[in-house]
Amino acid sequence: MQMNPIVDPKDFPASGKCTYLNAANVSLMYQGAEKAIIEWQKDLAENGSINFDEAAEAAVFGDLHRAAARLFNARTEDIAVGSSATELISSLAWAVAPESGTNVVSTDIVFPSTLYPWLRVARHTNCEIRLAEGHNSYADPDDVIRLIDDRTAVVCVSHVEYSGGQRYDLRELAQVAHDHNALLVVDATQSAGAVPIDAPACDVDALVTAGYKWLCGPFGAAVMYLAPHLQDQLDPGLVGFRSHKDMWDLQADRVEFPATAQRFEYSTMAFGCAIGLARSINYIADVGVERIFSYNKHLADLLIEGLKERNAEIISPHNEKEQTSIVAARFPGKDPAQIARKLKAAGVMVSARKDFVRFSPHLYNQRADIEQALDRIDDL
Ligand SMILES: Cc1ncc(COP(=O)(O)O)c(C=O)c1O
Repeated sequence: MQMNPIVDPKDFPASGKCTYLNAANVSLMYQGAEKAIIEWQKDLAENGSINFDEAAEAAVFGDLHRAAARLFNARTEDIAVGSSATELISSLAWAVAPESGTNVVSTDIVFPSTLYPWLRVARHTNCEIRLAEGHNSYADPDDVIRLIDDRTAVVCVSHVEYSGGQRYDLRELAQVAHDHNALLVVDATQSAGAVPIDAPACDVDALVTAGYKWLCGPFGAAVMYLAPHLQDQLDPGLVGFRSHKDMWDLQADRVEFPATAQRFEYSTMAFGCAIGLARSINYIADVGVERIFSYNKHLADLLIEGLKERNAEIISPHNEKEQTSIVAARFPGKDPAQIARKLKAAGVMVSARKDFVRFSPHLYNQRADIEQALDRIDDL
């Protein structure tokens, strides 16, 4: 299979240092993002608010709103910026606060940060949490759908499961959720940047992603898409001076939220990270997420083929509908943590999760990286 690289290795200088197959943990960062973050931080350190004045602070998320809107085919009004996916999901969960007598549907294999905010709210409101049972890090979407009923307030899933890389059909879940007047809330941390997402077309109600995985951005910045019908309905769980529609008004005796998703922005943060994330999202969008998705799938196919030849048991789904480039493999009789450690010592970065090894190639990888990883596995 002919596979021409889709990015210039100079855009990811670290990609030459080792065989990096670990985007599901932390991706390599696009060098343009790194540069923007360092420049911003240096200017702040050396000039305080001389350049970063009140007008600049009010407008600081503009680039990221535009970049995320471009990525999700949304409007800038539909995007809120936060420091982490967990923070945005938490603020949203408290805003929705499903009541006693209603339920929240998810899976028991979801990443904890996707579910913990709802568990915390449930302790307060007494709503029910219903989890589809996963087997071998796979949850059958029909089992999720079977749990949804007229008492369901929220269906909350991770678009791509962090462990086995299973991908859900968002449109299908949205349809069922909406048939029961429930919201579909999606954690896209393991998909945004690697899997095409048209948020309005999928009809999701909210979609959150961190920046440091498949978007090739930094820690410290995350975004949320909020569907227009919810924007003037929700009282965010986290509020601060920026929550008021005119943030420099600074009257503490009342708070009036903007009528957009930006009511979920509430305070200061590591602003340089938001500026950097905008750069990496625009870079990813310029390369094209459809193209990245297809390229990464080829890398995953090569990896799966090679791993099978080495008698590894592939846990990740390998079909058109559910596959991503997260490849989880079990090596019978071998300790995954030890394999990950030995591969790291041999210059191959992967993660050990549960009882398997997780490989997660991304756009900066090439066929040679997959061959290198397989050769080093042979050495073990
Ligand atoms: C699906 C998913 N959601 C959220 C997170 C954590 O996001 P954050 O660090 O931005 O809170 C992770 C991290 O692995 C994840 O895999």
